[in-house]
Amino acid sequence: MTSKEVREKYINFFKSAPRNHVEIPPAPLVLENDPTTLFTSSGMQPLVPYLMGESHPTGSKRLVDSQPSLRAHGLTSDDTEEVGDNRHMTFFEMLGNWSLGDYFKKEQLPWIFEFFTKELGLDPRKLYVSAFEGNEFVPKDEESIKIWKEIFSKAGIEAKEEERIFTYSDKKNWWSMTGTPEQMPIGQIGGPDSEIFYDFGEELKIHENSPFSKEECHPNCDCGRFLEVGNSVFIQYKKVGENKFEELPQKNVDFGGGLERLTAAANRDPDVFNTDLFADEIKAIEEVSGKSYLEANNKSQMRVISDHIKSATFLVNAGVLPSNKEKGYVLRRFLRRAAIKMRKLTGEFKSDDFSGICNAVVATYDGLYLSLDKVGEIQKVISEEMGKFNTTLERGLKETEKIQEINAKKAFDLYQSYGFPLEITKEIFAEKGQTINLEEYKKEFAKHQELSRTTSAGVFKGGLADHSSEVIKLHTATHLLLASLRKILGEQVVQKGQNITKERSRFDFPNPEKLTDEQLKKVENMINDIIDKDLSVNFKVMPKDKAEKTGAIHAFNEKYADTVKVYYVGNTLETAFSKEFCGGPHVTHTSEIGRVRIKKQEKIGSGLIRIYAVVEK
Ligand code: ALA
Repeated sequence: MTSKEVREKYINFFKSAPRNHVEIPPAPLVLENDPTTLFTSSGMQPLVPYLMGESHPTGSKRLVDSQPSLRAHGLTSDDTEEVGDNRHMTFFEMLGNWSLGDYFKKEQLPWIFEFFTKELGLDPRKLYVSAFEGNEFVPKDEESIKIWKEIFSKAGIEAKEEERIFTYSDKKNWWSMTGTPEQMPIGQIGGPDSEIFYDFGEELKIHENSPFSKEECHPNCDCGRFLEVGNSVFIQYKKVGENKFEELPQKNVDFGGGLERLTAAANRDPDVFNTDLFADEIKAIEEVSGKSYLEANNKSQMRVISDHIKSATFLVNAGVLPSNKEKGYVLRRFLRRAAIKMRKLTGEFKSDDFSGICNAVVATYDGLYLSLDKVGEIQKVISEEMGKFNTTLERGLKETEKIQEINAKKAFDLYQSYGFPLEITKEIFAEKGQTINLEEYKKEFAKHQELSRTTSAGVFKGGLADHSSEVIKLHTATHLLLASLRKILGEQVVQKGQNITKERSRFDFPNPEKLTDEQLKKVENMINDIIDKDLSVNFKVMPKDKAEKTGAIHAFNEKYADTVKVYYVGNTLETAFSKEFCGGPHVTHTSEIGRVRIKKQEKIGSGLIRIYAVVEK
C-alpha cells in the first residue's frame, strides 16, 4: 500500500457517514505568526483555541486532516538520538481526527479500530492497546478499557487487561503538548490517552539487535517489536494550578497517527524507511555513498541522513536559513548531523553529496507540500552550508589532535568553535579510550546564552502553545502595537517576526532606523489609550477573499485556509482600531491587558527593528 492510499483512505473514512468529518488543510510547518513555538509539531497544535471552546471557522465540530509535523527537541541538547532506529523521525505526517466537544470515547475507539482493521487490513490479533492507569488527580480510564474489551470481543478476541489492554502511568498514557501533567504549564490542556500498537512479532527483537532483546516485552517497551500506530487523546482537562486540574467545558478527542508508521504496518514491514515516503531518498543515499541499505551496519547512518535531509529540505523550503539561533540552528544541526553520518558511512563528505538526496525528497512530495521548481534553490542553501561545515570540520579535526585529555568544557569548545556535535567528539576520543561526562557537557551547553534563552522560552519543546493569561494579554497587546506602529509610522510597517513568552513580547518590523524617543512614547501612549477605552476584542469568521477586503492585515508567508478568522479590536470590524488574520486566543476587553511598556528596541539588521514590550499591572 502506498502512503497516498493510506492518507486518502483515512481522510475519506472520516469524511464519510456516519462520521461526517470536515477535511481541513494543514497548518504551515514553520510558524511565523505563532508567538510560542518554532514549528508545528502535532496536528493538535494549530487547533488549541477550538479545543478550548472557540468555534472552528468551518462551523464543524468534527475535523480530519493530515498535518506535516516536525519534532526536533532531541536535536537541541545533544542528549537524545532517537532517529536511527526503524521508526523514529523528526519530520512526519500526522493523520488526525478531532471531536470539538462532540463525540467521545465510545465513538472514537470503534471507529479507529474499524479503520485499522477494515480499511488498512491490519489483523486485529496483532493490535494491542493501552489506557491510563490513573493518578491522584485523574482516575483510571475504566471507560476506555470497557470499550476496548467490547471491540475486541466483537472481533472474536478475548481482551484481558495486561494481556491485550495494558495500563500505564501518565509518563506513557497522558498527552499534552509539553508532556506529563507535571510538565504542563498552567493554562494548558491535555488528558489521558489510549494508544494502539501493531505487533510485528517476536523475531524483530533479534533483527533490530535490540538492547531489550533479553527483557520481557510489552507494547511500550521500545524494543522495536511493537510499533505505536495511533493515539486517541481525550482532551478533557485544563491545568489550573500546581497539581490542579479542572474538567474542560467540552470533552474533545484528538487522534493522531503517523502516516509513515501506518504505511509500514499496512505493508507488514516494521521499517518506516522502507515505505514509499523514503524509498527514493534511500536510493539516492545508496548512489552517492556506494553503500547498500540492506547491510545492517549502514542502516542507522542512512536513516539519520534521510530523516535529517528531509527535515532540512522542508525547513529551507519554508524560508529558514542555517544560523546559530532558533529555527536556523535546528536546520544547521540537521545538516551537520547528516554530514557526520555521511562521513561515517564513506570516510568523507562533499558539499554536493546531498543534492541528489534533497532532489529525492522534493520529488516525493512534489505537488503536495513541495515543488520541483524550487529544488535548485534548496540544494544551493544545503550545499553552501555543507561546504562551510566541511572546512571547519577539517580544522576542528586537527584541533582534536592537540587535545591530550578530553573533558566536557573542551568538548563544548569544539562544538562552539568548529560545530562538532558531541557524538563526533565522543567517537574520536573513544578511540583513545576517553569518555565525556554528559551531565557536565549539558551544563556547558546551557551556558550558551542564545540557546538557553530559547529553551527557557519553551519554544523548542515542540509547541508550548502557552495559553496562560500572561501570554494571552501580550498577544492582544502585540496586535495593538502593530496597529499603533502603522498609524504612527505608516502602512509599510508589517510584522516580520514575533515571539511571545510569559515575560515579554518581541516584535520585528521594517523601518530604516530606530524610532526616536518621541515616536516610542507616542506608540506606547496610543496602545495605553486603547486599553483605557476598554474596547471589546472580537472575531469574525469569513471567506479569505472577503477578509482581505476588510483591510485586515496578515503575516507574510502564511498559508491560510479558504475560511479565516479575523480578530478586531473595537465594536465593529469597519471601525476597528486593529484587525488581523489570527487564530487567537485574545483577551475579551482591552482593559484586561494592564499597562503596556516598550522596554527596549534594537536594530537587528539592515532596515529591521525589534521591539520588546511588557505588560505591567
Ligand atoms: N496529539 C497526539 C499526539 O501527537 C495525538 O500524539
